[in-house]
Amino acid sequence: MLDTFHIKTIEDVEIKNVRVLLRVDFNVSLTSTHKIANDLRIKQSIPTIKKLLLDNNKIIIISHLGQPDGRDEKYSLTPIFEDLRKLLPGTVINLIDDFRTEKNKVFLDQQQGGEIVLLENIRFYKEEKKNDEDFAEELAALADVYVNDAFGVCHRVDASIVSIPKFIPHFAGLLLAHEITAINTMVNHPKHPLVALVGGAKVSTKINFLKSLIDHVDALIIGGALANTFLCAQGKEIGKSLVELDKITNAKSILEYADEKEKKVLLPKDVVVFNSLTDDSGRVVSVDNVAEHDVICDIGPESEALFDEVIAHAHTIIWNGPFGKVEDERFARGTDFLYYAITQNKEALSLVGGGDTIAAISHHEYLDRITHISAGGGAMMEFIERGTLPGIDALQTE
Ligand code: 3PG
Repeated sequence: MLDTFHIKTIEDVEIKNVRVLLRVDFNVSLTSTHKIANDLRIKQSIPTIKKLLLDNNKIIIISHLGQPDGRDEKYSLTPIFEDLRKLLPGTVINLIDDFRTEKNKVFLDQQQGGEIVLLENIRFYKEEKKNDEDFAEELAALADVYVNDAFGVCHRVDASIVSIPKFIPHFAGLLLAHEITAINTMVNHPKHPLVALVGGAKVSTKINFLKSLIDHVDALIIGGALANTFLCAQGKEIGKSLVELDKITNAKSILEYADEKEKKVLLPKDVVVFNSLTDDSGRVVSVDNVAEHDVICDIGPESEALFDEVIAHAHTIIWNGPFGKVEDERFARGTDFLYYAITQNKEALSLVGGGDTIAAISHHEYLDRITHISAGGGAMMEFIERGTLPGIDALQTE
């Protein structure tokens, strides 16, 4: 039972020999050849699926993939279906293209305990994003209970997230329960010092997140293109680097807010730049010496040392977003360095989210040293910001 949230999990009740509608977040990235780039999100829901299978339930899985505009083969769940079959050998799993056809209704009626039916991408139905209640009721009619294991999409007010629970008994899956407990503990009841590292490209998507982090943390480290807007707010030259000029005022107000609260904000001291005219292979310069045609692409060694010092003494570490232009391996070093710094601090509890942050690291050998890898990037930020999410509220029993 997640007491603070008044939510029952699948461990609090007996769910046996019934039809279960299981909402998961299998929104994985696909390669250009339509292969799954990383199936961590699928693997993370396997314990919930296994538990429900063990109790002889008939599982109907719902997920979205990407943001299709109606039915579009490019966004079919076929690669996910194939991955699921590999992860659950010996289990009968079928993918059905449309749960509304007569043929598929008959098929669903004949489903046996211990079998899985995966519904095609739920966003093929326009009603999903519109949070259409009739659509949710139609889905709810397929099952006896609803289980939400889709933390990564709990910030969306979609029919399969917030409306299905209005019609049938509803519970949190093991992954969702774990996400809620881990994030809530590390953010709201942390062992101090608590340090947050926030990178990535856009200030615009992270303004509220940064502000609320300041309330919780002892130190906030800002990197990635996000830091450029803050460096600009401090009056520094950033050359031709990625920046959100219309967010400079927001960056200033975040810095002022941190000052008021007497919280430390650390920005890069030196950076790796390349010249946009000559396209050289990269030079390290102080943030006071960025030239007019330079593009900032990574943090430099002085910044690494500065951040490492803070990370090494932290007792709780939260990390979201890469610190460099990691898609170009010349600029992946800073992000990899931070990952090693975090995993070297074996005393600290660590929380990393979401998939983009993990995908930004070149080697994954110490992943087991991360206390919790959140499946949701946007959802994790919003959960930290607001203390809850629409999909969590929808599961409440009081
Ligand atoms: C995610 O990848 O963040 C979740 O699956 C939500 O996807 P969305 O941003 O397309 O709603």
